[in-house]
Amino acid sequence: MRRWSDLPHLARRFLGQLDSSPPASWELSWVRGLLSDAEWNLFEAMADPDRRHAVAVATAVADELGAGRTGDTVAGDAMAGGAMVGGAMVGDAMAGGDPGTGHEGRAFEVRHMLEAADLEAEILLRCALMHDVGKTDARLGPMGRVAATLLELAGLDHSPRLGAGSELSDRLARYRDYPSTGAQWLRSAGSPEAVAVWAEEHHMDPDQWTLPAELCRVLTDADDC
Ligand SMILES: [Fe+2]
Ligand SMILES: [Fe+2]
Repeated sequence: MRRWSDLPHLARRFLGQLDSSPPASWELSWVRGLLSDAEWNLFEAMADPDRRHAVAVATAVADELGAGRTGDTVAGDAMAGGAMVGGAMVGDAMAGGDPGTGHEGRAFEVRHMLEAADLEAEILLRCALMHDVGKTDARLGPMGRVAATLLELAGLDHSPRLGAGSELSDRLARYRDYPSTGAQWLRSAGSPEAVAVWAEEHHMDPDQWTLPAELCRVLTDADDC
C-alpha cells in the first residue's frame, strides 16, 4: 500500500521514467547471468526505465552483500564487473568469518540474515531484479502511472466513477494489481518462491511481509535508492 510519504520516491521514479534509454550492455550481461531463461524473457519484456530501475535496485542489494557498487567500479571494465557481482565477489564476501566493521560488517550481517532464512545471495538479487515485473501488464506510460498512483493515494483506485470497462480503467486496474500479476508470472516461470513472494508483497505494509523482515528492509531500502 502506497502512502503520501512515498511521494519523494515516486517523484524520483517518475523522473526516471522520462529517460527511455536501456540499461548498459554490461548491466544486461550481469542480469542475464543471474536470471533463469524464463525470468530473462520476462525481464526483456519490461520497459527500459523499469529495467534500469531493476538494475539499480539489484546493484544496491549487491552493495549490501559486499559485492561492490557495479555502477561505480565497473564503468571502465564492464564484463569483469558483471561477473564479479553475479558470482565471485558475492561468494567471497559470504565466505568470510570475520564481521569486520563498516561496509564489511554490514555484508556480514546480511550474510547471516540470508543463512538464517536459508536463502542464497542470488535469490535476493533476483527478488530485486523481478519485483516490478508485473508493471508490464498495464502498458501505462509515465503520466498514466502518475494518475494510477494518485488515485491509489487518494483511495479512489476502486471507484466505479473510473468508468469500469473502458480501456483506461482496465489499464489503471492492471497497474494497481501489478504486484500480484508479477507474482503469478514468476510462479508460472518456475522462479523460486521467495522471488514471487517479494513481487507480491513489496508494496505491502511490513506487518504483512512473509519473508524475513530484515531481508525485506534490505530490498525496500534498495528500492528507495
Ligand atoms: Fe513496485
Ligand atoms: Fe521498484
